[in-house]
Amino acid sequence: VTRAQAAIARHTRLVDDFPSPGIAFKDLTPVLADPEGLSAIVTALTHGCTEIDLVAGIDARGFLLGGAVARELEVGVLAVRKGGKLPPPVHAVTYSLEYGSATLEIPADGLDLTGQRVLLVDDVLATGGTAVAAADLLNRTGASVVGVAVIMELVGLGGRDTIAGGLGPHVPVHSVALD
Ligand code: PRP
Repeated sequence: VTRAQAAIARHTRLVDDFPSPGIAFKDLTPVLADPEGLSAIVTALTHGCTEIDLVAGIDARGFLLGGAVARELEVGVLAVRKGGKLPPPVHAVTYSLEYGSATLEIPADGLDLTGQRVLLVDDVLATGGTAVAAADLLNRTGASVVGVAVIMELVGLGGRDTIAGGLGPHVPVHSVALD
C-alpha cells in the first residue's frame, strides 16, 4: 500500500445509493482536503511521467488535481471545460453518456497546442468515455495525449480498455487506486 492508497483508504467517504440506488459512491473530497492525502496523490499522479509539456485537467474535479500536478512537473495547465462555459471560439467534442450526451470544450484561440505532449488528469476513470473524448479533442488541435492519470479506477466499467481502443494501447493509463 502506497502513501496515497493509505490516505484514500483512510479518508474516502462512502455514500450508499448515490447517484442511484445500489451504487456505493466514493467521495474523495476529504482525501483532497487532507494535507498528506493531497500531497501523496499529486505525487502519485506524476508517477512515470516524463517529457510532458502540458497537463490537462477535466471538469470539474480534474481541475483540483491538474494545477497541482502541472506545478509538480513544472509545466502549464489547461482546463478541459464542460460545454457552454468558455468564450468563443472553442474546439468542442460531444460524446455519448449512458443517458444522453455531454460536450467538452477548450479555447480555439490564444493557445498553440501543436506538438504538445499532454498528460490528462482526472479524479475517477469509469467507462473511459470522458477521457477518450477529452483526448480526441486535444489530439485534434495538434497536441498529443501521451498519458492518462486518475486517482480512482473503477475496474468493472472497462475504462482502461476503452482508452486502449480509442487512443491506442501505447497510451499509458495510471491509476493511484483501484475499486
Ligand atoms: C466524473 C469523473 C470523470 C467522469 C468519469 O465526472 O470526474 O470526469 O465522470 O466517467 P467516465 O469514465 O464514465 O466518462 P462527472 O461527469 O461526474 O462530472 P463532475 O466532475 O463535474 O462532477
